[in-house]
Amino acid sequence: MKRTNTDFLVTSNIRRDEVSGERGDPGTEAWMRGRRATQKGMGPAALAAHREWLAEETERLIAGWRARSSVTDPVAELERLSARSFTRFCFGTRDPGAAARRTGELLAALTPIISSPFHFPRAIRRFMPRYRRSVDAQRTLERELRRALDAPGGGGLVESLADAGLDPEASVRMLVSNGLASYRVPAAAVTWTLVALARHPAVADELAGRLGRARTGDGAGDADGDPLLAWTIAESLRLWPPNWLILRTANGEQSCGGWRLPPGASVIVSPYVVHRTAPSFAGDPDTFRPERWSGMNPGPGEYLPYGIGSRWCVGKALADLELTTIVAALAREFRFSVRTMAERPDVRTTLLPASLTLGLRPR
Ligand code: HEM
Repeated sequence: MKRTNTDFLVTSNIRRDEVSGERGDPGTEAWMRGRRATQKGMGPAALAAHREWLAEETERLIAGWRARSSVTDPVAELERLSARSFTRFCFGTRDPGAAARRTGELLAALTPIISSPFHFPRAIRRFMPRYRRSVDAQRTLERELRRALDAPGGGGLVESLADAGLDPEASVRMLVSNGLASYRVPAAAVTWTLVALARHPAVADELAGRLGRARTGDGAGDADGDPLLAWTIAESLRLWPPNWLILRTANGEQSCGGWRLPPGASVIVSPYVVHRTAPSFAGDPDTFRPERWSGMNPGPGEYLPYGIGSRWCVGKALADLELTTIVAALAREFRFSVRTMAERPDVRTTLLPASLTLGLRPR
């Protein structure tokens, strides 16, 4: 992973079309510039301003859930929140229009392509209906993003992208990739955490108590900074990393972990497997035990829910904010139970709980 962009490359785009991925290639360099600009735009001040908006929106979600005793397919409901969170973060007070919904439509159009075990040459792919549908969905989203860029208002990540010298088309390209990455993955991470809390009521009670005390001023520090909250999220990302497979391609002949890899070999790193086999978690790697994170500092490469190296997750800062804000608010408010859930998760793209219905009881 640390040799990404040189010895090991990210060689496909969102639609699995081949790209170079090598340092020095104009497409790779443009992407890396966009990454740097995005990360600069996720500084503490921008995140602090966004937190207030997100807390209010989470309260709105909670108000809707309070009227119910269960929620079927919580990922779908949380996706809507994470998608709107991203468009708000990007466009500030400008009206993002239907950008969040269009991102969902593009993701739905891409899913059969990303999850297919078959990969046809581009000359054939171009004529496949699913490929064309995804191209159309991307164009529709791009139109919506361009419109939002020109809408009245101000603030948001798009201004950092412009300040960093990205022209509107380069910004739109960044927004498409970031929008897709921030749509389902944070929703999956929140949902896995709620499932873990449902199955570990003692942890859930302890967490809710601490969060409640922090809110009323009886506890130490602010709720979102509570260590048990951080450990709970870290432990959930360890056991159920939403991006459970990370792909690289060997650039020329390479050696890695004692293996000789021929040029073009595909290398798959699975955070799911690493997190359950790394020495730091030995003994009870499959057990949900947030307290293990007290004083724990996993060794290099042992914990990688956000990847590592030059292509690690661009949106980690925003993702952390979303996870702490949303999980804290929900854990304080509800006792969760698992009403239904398939034994096997959905592993086709993002790691998702399948057929999940969560029971809700107000605290
Ligand atoms: C819990 C939430 C999230 C998790 C667990 C997560 C995890 C990951 C992982 C494992 C990767 C692959 C890293 C690699 O290939 O080395 C990745 C890539 C990426 N993530 Fe995230 N992510 C999350 C949320 C977000 C959000 C909110 C955004 C955008 C605001 C985002 C934007 C991206 C982008 C653009 C990439 C591709 C980076 C590249 O290829 O250079 N992610 N993420």
